[in-house]
Amino acid sequence: MSITPLVMGNWKMNGRAEALQHFLEDVQLTTKVDTALCPPSLYLASAFKAGLAFGAQDVSAETDGARTGELSAAMLKDVGCAYALVGHSERREYHAETNELVAEKASAAVAQGLVPVFCVGETLAQREAGEVEQVIAEQLAPLLALPDVIGKVVVAYEPVWAIGTGKTASSEDAQQVHAYIRTQFAAVDAKIAAALRILYGGSVKPDNAAELCSMPDINGALVGGASLDAASFNEIIQAAAATVAA
Ligand code: PGA
Repeated sequence: MSITPLVMGNWKMNGRAEALQHFLEDVQLTTKVDTALCPPSLYLASAFKAGLAFGAQDVSAETDGARTGELSAAMLKDVGCAYALVGHSERREYHAETNELVAEKASAAVAQGLVPVFCVGETLAQREAGEVEQVIAEQLAPLLALPDVIGKVVVAYEPVWAIGTGKTASSEDAQQVHAYIRTQFAAVDAKIAAALRILYGGSVKPDNAAELCSMPDINGALVGGASLDAASFNEIIQAAAATVAA
């Protein structure tokens, strides 16, 4: 089955309204690739560009109520959001998000019709200890126990040591983990696994995007730093588009 790649930018806590406006003017989309941008959430309500989807960088596991500072999936949907990152390693690290909470967030997103982009990835110490598959399996386990959710997610493999460091996993190492993620899903539902989009993230740049996206189980990219510059992001979109048969 051919899977349409998804290229998604994650601005994290960067950018201002003016920078976003310029980005939206300069970003060049193609029908061969799905594209999305996750700006800081307060800019979501005013952001629009035909053909570009928007995502939040996080979503509450709760619906309405006493959760100061949080945004619910229904609110994000209300302002036109299509995706929500859940379990980004920075949320796991700085906000102590557990694997169970991340799965609850994915569930809350799906309940409102948002597509969760479920982030997983090991630290350098875990990689050096040979624990990559174990860590990924533990991160995925609470998600894989949710039959109504697993068919509606995108997974992003982001090795923590590659995020913002300029170090990228080799395309072979990334492919190996992506294939492992797909087999984890296949153990639950082969059809869902075959259609699952698995993005690679971690120092994706114009000069490495083509090789990463050409791997059989890499279905696009989650791009941090390089998404702040529309020209770089455009090159990454083009690299992903080049992997799609004409
Ligand atoms: P990076 O970030 O591309 O700057 O490494 C990726 C991410 O954290 O999503």
